[in-house]
Amino acid sequence: MSSRALSAAACLALLTLIPACGSPRPAEEPENAEPAAASEPPPAPPPPPAPSLYERLGKSEALAGVVEELMGNVLADHRLGKLFDRAHKDKARWKQLTTRMVAELCVVAGGADCGYDGKPMKDAHAGLNVTGPQWDAFIEDLGIALKTRGVDDAVAKALEDKLEQQIRADIVVGKGK
Ligand code: HEM
Repeated sequence: MSSRALSAAACLALLTLIPACGSPRPAEEPENAEPAAASEPPPAPPPPPAPSLYERLGKSEALAGVVEELMGNVLADHRLGKLFDRAHKDKARWKQLTTRMVAELCVVAGGADCGYDGKPMKDAHAGLNVTGPQWDAFIEDLGIALKTRGVDDAVAKALEDKLEQQIRADIVVGKGK
């Protein structure tokens, strides 16, 4: 047997033990091949930030409707109406009051560029001696206004909570609760 035939026979005998023997080498991956994951679609972009309370309320346009409704309720409310009588009789003053009320609600609800140009809440209500029960009546009238204008209950509650936390202490100074 020639040496060539011998090595072919030996390889044949070893074939079961060394599978690579005689079979073509598998194609090698190029050294700088991208990992398999790179061919997957790029990750989804992060979700947009949750809308602010101001946005959930419908921004200034919707707040203007709420304030119109609120002040109608307040004027008709025997617990509060008298306080606003004088302002209501003066068209320009009323317009200014309601515009500032919308801007202040925008601030409290976390809006940007609310354009509030009135006094700080403490100064604006100084001397009015607003009591706890008057505050509660005002917030009750606000709640009715929000409902009448179709604001979602959870959004209305969030606004009422923020008013309580942020400005109640600046407005309520009078005894009565
Ligand atoms: C949600 C709570 C309240 C907000 C956001 C609010 C906001 C305002 C704003 C922005 C002004 C105008 C300030 C200025 O012109 O410099 C104002 C004035 C006034 N607020 Fe309030 N207020 C609130 C609660 C109350 C309550 C509970 C009362 C009384 C029960 C009250 C009585 C008044 C009165 C009498 C004025 C003066 C109106 C005038 O004669 O021009 N406010 N308020």
